[in-house]
Amino acid sequence: MTIKEYVKFRKEEIHRYVSTLITKPRLAIIQVNEDAGSNAYVKGKLKDCEELLINASLNNLPLDISEEELLKIIDEYNKDDSIDGFIVQMPLPKHINEETIKLAISPSKDVDGFHPLSQLNPCTPQGIINYLHHENIELCGANALVIGRSNIVGKPMAKLLLKENCNVTVVHSKTKPEDMARYIENADVIVVAIGKQGFLDNRFKYKDSAVIVDVGISRDETGLHGDAIPNLPVKLQTPVPGGVGLLTRLALMENLLKIYEQKHK
Ligand code: GUN
Repeated sequence: MTIKEYVKFRKEEIHRYVSTLITKPRLAIIQVNEDAGSNAYVKGKLKDCEELLINASLNNLPLDISEEELLKIIDEYNKDDSIDGFIVQMPLPKHINEETIKLAISPSKDVDGFHPLSQLNPCTPQGIINYLHHENIELCGANALVIGRSNIVGKPMAKLLLKENCNVTVVHSKTKPEDMARYIENADVIVVAIGKQGFLDNRFKYKDSAVIVDVGISRDETGLHGDAIPNLPVKLQTPVPGGVGLLTRLALMENLLKIYEQKHK
């Protein structure tokens, strides 16, 4: 199944479930940026909620809000029983410490799964694992290569792949080019998340049985591009657009429902 088909199928299941609930789940979004990528994501999340009968609200805060004021609003959201879960869209303005903000969100409402005490996993890595499972990709004992070591994707991705019993390698900007080529040649599953258009191309050799999950998004006048050029000679390659972004959004809805169910048990 393509990602688009898979997401449509899961959304139909979620819609059926939410339509049986008398009190609908509620997601709140706080945004403190004017970032084009964030705007697109937030718009997508609001659209998903509407489709899935989930109540959603967006609080767009001024860019010059102080960290203290933002923390006060987060505290109100933590205490507001009508909000099941909420997210603070990243990135935040430079004068606000993102780690402080992530730690201020109550783990019981942390739909993003960013808090160290959260029982949930971050949405992008979790969404990817769910899709690979659905496609029956063998992860146990597979050589998984994570390219990039960000806090939102690379690091949690490596952790989840390890939990799936993969042999996990993480490479990054300081990896030597000859080593990079060797790791790529040996990989069964490659998750690339560096934001460099066309980084994975025909310079490298791939296993023809390899799976490439492309998390990269770069934008230019011709549109959106991933970290891999299209149509590499592998078994499965996720597209950009219409790929991992949809899985992330789906995982966010699934995380919200998990929180909702925990609360209403
Ligand atoms: N910015 C980019 N991706 C994400 C995400 O998954 N959650 C939040 N809160 N901000 C992001």
